[in-house]
Amino acid sequence: MQTKMLEPDIKGINAAAELLRGGETVAFATETVYGLGADARNDAAVAKIFKAKDRPAFNPLIVHLADFDMLKDLAEIPDAAEKLLPLWPGPLTLVLPKKPASGLSDLVTAGLETVAIRVPAHATARAVLQAFGGPVAAPSANPSGKVSATSADHVLAGLQGKIAAILDGGPCGVGVESTIIGFENNQMVLLRPGGVAIETITQLTGQVPVIAKTGQITAPGQLQSHYAPDVAVRMNASEPRANEAWLGFGANPRQAPGLNLSANANLTEAAMALFDSLRKMDAICKRNGLAGFAVAPVPDTGLGLAINDRLQRAAAPRVNG
Ligand code: TXA
Ligand code: MG
Repeated sequence: MQTKMLEPDIKGINAAAELLRGGETVAFATETVYGLGADARNDAAVAKIFKAKDRPAFNPLIVHLADFDMLKDLAEIPDAAEKLLPLWPGPLTLVLPKKPASGLSDLVTAGLETVAIRVPAHATARAVLQAFGGPVAAPSANPSGKVSATSADHVLAGLQGKIAAILDGGPCGVGVESTIIGFENNQMVLLRPGGVAIETITQLTGQVPVIAKTGQITAPGQLQSHYAPDVAVRMNASEPRANEAWLGFGANPRQAPGLNLSANANLTEAAMALFDSLRKMDAICKRNGLAGFAVAPVPDTGLGLAINDRLQRAAAPRVNG
């Protein structure tokens, strides 16, 4: 299959919506990372997402909506979730009880009773969702277990020939995936730190989300090894070893081949640069014959929590290829 490149103009948006209606997969820009979309009500279309990504079928997908109007047909909204609705559109995903008549493909939810929903803010994502007019299932547009895509080129590098089209909306502004919140006994549970800082959620709701226990597959996608470059990754390093490149944050300890996530230690800038940097560090290590790279400590506050979560999974022993 030839993967078409589409511009985010009326022609490109309509072509993308038409492909989705025809049961094809289309990657599109969101403010977090690029998503690989398909009609969430069409089993065959959703199956194409899993095939293109080589994603395990037990890992459910996020359903993307143009606005909340469509939400009431798909899911129940617990009281605790109501309080978070002002954060939409934006980099937030809510895991909600699925309505029996949702019409969603069971592949989307991997047979769970809940469904993950997101209303993205990016103009390109909103335009294609509006033009399509229905729920779009979309995981990150990268081969399963690998580094997420924050540009059309990243998508092409991983999925060329495996998906129908890419709607190029430029580089992603947030750079890490959405924050995922679930609900247990009407209490918020943080399933994945992401583009909305926990501090923001606490400020808005007056409550601190419970942190989901790691190792427990409550979010089946929270596999330990994920976002993995080919080379080894070592976190919280004070300086690079002889056989390592260096991914800095703030002032660099000494010269080594590498990059800096943010020379002035700005977490927003670092999040935006993260996945592109992981890809480039891979290439730098290979070019210099280095076994891997060390990463400077990143504070666990604000977007730092999501950055450290992704780095931890990038550094984890590779179990799922
Ligand atoms: O920012 C994002 O969230 C991006 C863009 C494209 O929207 N999407 C994304 O999708 O990161 P993906 O598939 O890479 O990650 C979705 C995560 C997975 O960890 C999956 O297990 C979890 O959401 N998830 C989906 N449905 C769930 C459910 N019903 N219960 C618990 N976790 C769920
Ligand atoms: Mg992903």
